[in-house]
Amino acid sequence: MKQPTLNNFLKLAKCPKCKGKLIEKADGVKCQLCNDIYFYNSDGILLFYPRKKDEKITDKYEEPNFVEWYTGILAFGNEVLGKGQMESLHRTVSQLVLSTAIKKPPTFILDIGCGVGRATSDCATYLGDSFVVGLDLSERKLSMAKKIVQGKENIRLALAHFGFHGTKIKGHGLDNTFLLQANAEFLPFSDSIFDLVINVNLIDRVINPENTLKNMVSVLKSGGKFIFTSPLNWSNSNLWDKYPCIEDIQKLFENNGLIIDEIFDGLFYREIQDARGSYSDWNTTVVSAIKK
Ligand SMILES: C[S@@+](CC[C@H](N)C(=O)[O-])C[C@H]1O[C@@H](n2cnc3c(N)ncnc32)[C@H](O)[C@@H]1O
Repeated sequence: MKQPTLNNFLKLAKCPKCKGKLIEKADGVKCQLCNDIYFYNSDGILLFYPRKKDEKITDKYEEPNFVEWYTGILAFGNEVLGKGQMESLHRTVSQLVLSTAIKKPPTFILDIGCGVGRATSDCATYLGDSFVVGLDLSERKLSMAKKIVQGKENIRLALAHFGFHGTKIKGHGLDNTFLLQANAEFLPFSDSIFDLVINVNLIDRVINPENTLKNMVSVLKSGGKFIFTSPLNWSNSNLWDKYPCIEDIQKLFENNGLIIDEIFDGLFYREIQDARGSYSDWNTTVVSAIKK
């Protein structure tokens, strides 16, 4: 069940509680310092922030139908249905990744809030010599990500609830990847270890964006690249007052030791809502920055 790249992952990983060294155990990994054990779930995903059943029930990212919709229509809509409404977002991220890689190919890449693995898969495909780690809170999304990013089989997607015929996606078979469950606020990594940290539409979904950003920057090497996108559609309603626009995000980044080399607003991507052609368009902020 374990992923073949566990040893590569363990070179980067640390206990999220005490930052002790992690070692392999039969059913998970163990911290040599505090002795905490992190177990695999039944799909072979290491759980660093296991959640109780009632926490998962209230999280839409754990709903099976939602995850299939997210996969087939949003994250991989172009590949699955030939509908490219989200490609503006995904390909902008890839373009920023590749423009960094031209200057210096990143050895270690972290995709935080990787969802079903679109950016993880794109990075691992385009940069075959890089090691790409994808992390998310949702076990359901990670199970799908594991099948798509690392698997080689056809995965059936039941999209009938959303008015699309059932269809499938073939696993990408990328063996330069590792996927794990963790909370962006308690990252299980050494400080200053990644050359590139990506987060696509994560920040407006978390409880504490300041703490999340601080943690994301802490695992990035000095001189490393930080790529960020978000529609700033805050799920915590208090944050609409605090971060209403791009200038506020810019300040937050600068206060966290990031030097912005590119920032723009007005990247629109489209989410299809149903087979009748209803949709939502999301105005998105994009930032590319370097850690001091
Ligand atoms: C809008 S989705 C974006 C997913 C993916 N980056 C993409 O573009 O398809 C937000 C993701 O953030 C994850 N997430 C929310 N809070 C998180 C946290 N505290 N730590 C890690 N992931 C989190 C959700 O489970 C979800 O997969």
